[in-house]
Amino acid sequence: MRWVRVIIGLVYQCVVKPILFLFDAEKVHTNVARLGSSIGKFGLVRCAFRYDNPILEQTIDGAHFKNPIGLAAGFDYDGYLAHSMGNVGFGFSTIGTVTALPYEGNVKPRLARLPRSQSLLVNKGFKSQGAKAIAQRLDQTRFGSALVGISVGSSNVPQIDTVQKAIDDYAATFVVFSTKPYVSYFELNISCPNVAIGESFLNLAHFEALLMRIQLLGIAQPIYVKMPNEIEFNNAQALMARGLKYGMKGFIFSNLVKDRTNPAFDQKEIKAFAKYKGNFSGRPVKNNANTLIRFARAFVGDRATIIGCGGVFSATDAYEKITCGADLVQLITGMIYQGPQLIGQINEGMVKLLCRDGYASLQDARAAAFERME
Ligand SMILES: Cc1cc2nc3c(=O)[nH]c(=O)nc-3n(C[C@H](O)[C@H](O)[C@H](O)COP(=O)(O)O)c2cc1C
Repeated sequence: MRWVRVIIGLVYQCVVKPILFLFDAEKVHTNVARLGSSIGKFGLVRCAFRYDNPILEQTIDGAHFKNPIGLAAGFDYDGYLAHSMGNVGFGFSTIGTVTALPYEGNVKPRLARLPRSQSLLVNKGFKSQGAKAIAQRLDQTRFGSALVGISVGSSNVPQIDTVQKAIDDYAATFVVFSTKPYVSYFELNISCPNVAIGESFLNLAHFEALLMRIQLLGIAQPIYVKMPNEIEFNNAQALMARGLKYGMKGFIFSNLVKDRTNPAFDQKEIKAFAKYKGNFSGRPVKNNANTLIRFARAFVGDRATIIGCGGVFSATDAYEKITCGADLVQLITGMIYQGPQLIGQINEGMVKLLCRDGYASLQDARAAAFERME
């Protein structure tokens, strides 16, 4: 119901957001997640928020996606929301990043808003209840229409202090979830800048050792590698080539931005965060992510799935990711700034954009963009 989403959007912009933004970002996130977990399962939410159209449906790596918009890793750390994300309008929803061992998260403050830059400062450092505890709870959950995926990282605790231990630790989380019927895909997070061992696997030898270990696990679900935002083409290509060699099904571009000189930041605003540790989501992620999606699609052709992530605030932003070569699109920050009705609005807007350009499906739009690249 378009007009309902328009009204919800107006109320969110004019009333709800100004109130929420008066309070600490992490407290608001925790409380909104709690509220979403309890009310999100009701059918009324689905009627108000969700937009469906067969033109948006795709089967990718054996899974059927009702629409291409997914919740990115980092909003639903411990899987309290996954059952209701379909009602909010998502086609898929990533839980995590989940780690084998529980971790309380980095010291606070670890989440802050940069509204002029349309960005969030993030320094959670893989806050997680731990894979087994999360799986036990998810085993009792009735999931909705959004496909569920698990983002896997290595535990951010002092005892995981070598690459070999981190590899064992990644493997432990895959083992916990690989037999779960509700897990449709995995994300392999090798690009978190906020954890001690987070980016060690951008090193090719380390990455290859990790991939060899994962390959031995014989996981049935597709695994998508979460890639960094600030990476040279040749390094991205080398990582993708290794990933494909060891059975990875695709790549997600991208994780957070580290570079505080990124021109998308409002200069005054970013300077005010000089004393805070952390990395950034939202608008500053967008340009590099889109450039990398284009590059990745040209490199992998149709050998891999590409998921575009970063700075999606509208249907136009999401459609741009598809025409850069993405099969699917993920977001978090756009929903925080625009409101939860954004997902339905993006899906509805994408149908209009597809029709405007004369495409019968998302695949057609992507293929036309790919032809232009050649
Ligand atoms: C609060 C927050 C926490 C995040 N935590 C994770 C995480 O645990 N694992 C991960 O792969 N990405 C994490 N990310 C990165 C997002 O998944 C995404 O790549 C990035 O925010 C760009 O998308 P956006 O601009 O739509 O937010 C986090 C982002 C935010 C905003």
